[in-house]
Amino acid sequence: MKALVLSGGAGTRLRPITHTSAKQLVPVANKAVLFYGLESIAAAGITEVGMVVGDTAAEIEEAVGDGSRFGLRVTYLPQERPLGLAHAVLIARDFLGDDDFVMYLGDNFIVGGITGLVDEFRRNRPDAQILLTRVADPRSFGVAELDPSGRVIGLEEKPEHPKSDLALVGVYLFTPLVHEAVRAVKPSWRGELEITHALQHLIDIRADVRCTLVEGYWKDTGNVGDMLEVNRTVLESMERRIDGEVDDASETVGRVVVEAGARIANSRIVGPAVIGTGSVVRDSYVGPFTSVAENCRITDSELEFSIVLRDSSIRGVGRIESSLIGRHVEVTPATGVPSAHRLVLGDHSRVQIHS
Ligand code: TTP
Repeated sequence: MKALVLSGGAGTRLRPITHTSAKQLVPVANKAVLFYGLESIAAAGITEVGMVVGDTAAEIEEAVGDGSRFGLRVTYLPQERPLGLAHAVLIARDFLGDDDFVMYLGDNFIVGGITGLVDEFRRNRPDAQILLTRVADPRSFGVAELDPSGRVIGLEEKPEHPKSDLALVGVYLFTPLVHEAVRAVKPSWRGELEITHALQHLIDIRADVRCTLVEGYWKDTGNVGDMLEVNRTVLESMERRIDGEVDDASETVGRVVVEAGARIANSRIVGPAVIGTGSVVRDSYVGPFTSVAENCRITDSELEFSIVLRDSSIRGVGRIESSLIGRHVEVTPATGVPSAHRLVLGDHSRVQIHS
């Protein structure tokens, strides 16, 4: 069995972060989202991985390499444009050959991994197996309709009037029959070859398409709110570990990780929170559900329920909450008169100012 990991895409919902980097590499508890997926693929006993990459191919390749670090063998499959999930299967035809495979969306996060699911698929070997989860508003997802016995009888992509609250989760298991289905589908209104349409094709030709309801936790990290939620969940399961320096004037409460080479001075850190290697927190408060990546400076500020990417600095700005801050960002107070906000923001930035 092989894995097809989708790490291309446009990532419009995570702009401006995705103007300069791949969304699959945004860190959760200071580790790239994609790495959790690769670890769970390796844990399920799969070693051959096809990695679909787009504009951010170089960055993904630099981060993942040949995959040996994860116990995997990674082959890169360039996709000229993000033409849809079924298109990704189409271009992976030669790599996949006649093997069964798990398709994993590189920005998705599944707590508890996929081992149970892959084992179940290997045992029963239906033509395809999908994962479903209940969501409050299914209109922005692929949505499944089941008959009373629990069989999948229909699938729709982002329906205006969903027939159920069961959304497709970003992990799919396929036999080679799917290749016929992805060849049969036509581009949707948004110009993409949709995997939901390919699945519908399988249902139409009476293939055995089964579903599993996800009981663990699943999130698509496509937008900032979900990203912060996944970060919160992962931090909650961390063990306390202080490898860096914490001075006597500082306090660390609960599940706090201070990586080796990080320094905490005259500050209070309330877990769960992680402070990355080379970062310095001085005269500050870092509250629960916060990840500060490597080489950051947090000075004279308060930070909570946020993710700060590497090499950024936050100084003297009061309290920051529910924020995703990119790499090499500087947040500082505006001094002097007139009292005004001074901003240098990239395209598609979003700023909420309390005035
Ligand atoms: P999506 O989140 O559905 O699409 P996107 O990355 O274009 O994001 P946005 O909606 O914010 O513009 O993609 C799910 C995953 O699949 C993600 O990891 C990107 C990847 N992907 C591809 O590799 N190729 C594709 O053609 C598409 C559509 C997605």
